Amino acid sequence: MNKKIKRKSVGTGFSMCVQPAFIIGTNNEDGTPNFAPITWVSATCEKGSDYFIVISMFGTKNTKTNVYRDKRLSVNLVSTDMLPLMDYFGTHHAKVAEEDDIEYSFSRGEVVDVPTLDASSWVYECEVEKSVEIGESTTFFCRIKNIQMDEKIECKDTFDVNLVKFDPVIYSGNYHSLGKRLGEIGDYANRDNKRKSMLETTLNTRDLGGYRVEGTETFTKYNRLIRSDAPTMPSERDIDFLRRIGITTIIDTRIDEEIERKAHGLSTVQGFDYYNFPITEGSGLPESVEAVPNSYFACAHDPSVTKIFRTIAESDGGVMYNCSAGKDRTGVNSALILWLCGVSKDDIVRDYMYTKENNASRFGRIRENFPDIDINIVIPHEEYMYGFIELMEKAHGTIEAFFESIGIDADIQKKLRSKLLDA
Ligand SMILES: Cc1cc2nc3c(=O)[nH]c(=O)nc-3n(C[C@H](O)[C@H](O)[C@H](O)COP(=O)(O)O)c2cc1C
Repeated sequence: MNKKIKRKSVGTGFSMCVQPAFIIGTNNEDGTPNFAPITWVSATCEKGSDYFIVISMFGTKNTKTNVYRDKRLSVNLVSTDMLPLMDYFGTHHAKVAEEDDIEYSFSRGEVVDVPTLDASSWVYECEVEKSVEIGESTTFFCRIKNIQMDEKIECKDTFDVNLVKFDPVIYSGNYHSLGKRLGEIGDYANRDNKRKSMLETTLNTRDLGGYRVEGTETFTKYNRLIRSDAPTMPSERDIDFLRRIGITTIIDTRIDEEIERKAHGLSTVQGFDYYNFPITEGSGLPESVEAVPNSYFACAHDPSVTKIFRTIAESDGGVMYNCSAGKDRTGVNSALILWLCGVSKDDIVRDYMYTKENNASRFGRIRENFPDIDINIVIPHEEYMYGFIELMEKAHGTIEAFFESIGIDADIQKKLRSKLLDA
């Protein structure tokens, strides 16, 4: 990605707190519980799975006194529904909560004898191993002795914690909540390398994310629209991956004969809504090299295109659309949506051209099996896509006017843009 944000130096007085907010539970000297929000919380690890929570406390506070004395504490994740409680504990000692009619309940830790908040879906029970003082601030390194987690949430290991499910409050001077889950490690490897298929069982499955809106620092988002050749035999891994990145709608633009020859591998798989909107032009070969842009023009005006873009606009999750090789019909649909989003013509052509390398083995087979066909009609050439864009500009002037002419009005166009561009 060649994104370049213009930044300014602002001194040292800002912090980017990347941890969720926690309420620290401690034992007062008389055995009663104390709770206080502390957001300067981080983590470190000694060896293997010996994790430590690192907590910094400033000035004088009950919690700090308790931790120094008792060396035990609970670290209770704050979910967004616990904000009133956190705000209360931020300015009051837990002892007076009852007088103020603040309702909350607590239990004792299962491994460490500390108070834990019943409302919290994730609780660390810790013992202090070490403390480091810097001025009025003390940082405690706390060994995790136990983690209690909402029993309704399944997490296999550290790397399988779906934070969104815990709905944590993120604090950085303001309270925030988390956005969408974006995936796991490896889900984005090679995503900007469009020369590689995202699926292991197809040649040409690519994300429309990562393209610059011309003249801006805005880029098309990942996981929203995936273009593909026909995924006729997706592996379990492919299906899992598509589910994980949020693809819920499948649009197959092949005609009946093509589907009869090779059925779509996701048409009956749970979790995917499958639509068949056939585009007839493009299911066969244009008669000459010169006819390719005209063929693309005809694809763009197939009645199915209106249905395709209406479906994309209305879909809640990500959409994967395909034809047979992911080249012509899929190339046209990709060009249309990228164009509508303001991606440059050169990038649209670049996106189209990746098929040349991705489908090289497919083109090789056609060359062998059909020696009479002019292979240049089959292999993508930049002029084909530039030629198509030129024909479209001649006929419609703007991409907006084109969409309007096929029944995709300004409202739907807005939805289509936000599909690929909005956070
Ligand atoms: C959102 C929030 C975050 C806070 N984070 C910290 C923190 O990281 N470190 C700290 O020393 N105090 C922090 N505080 C302040 C303490 O929670 C506050 O001083 C509290 O009243 C102490 O209570 P106690 O004296 O009963 O321990 C935070 C307060 C709020 C509301």
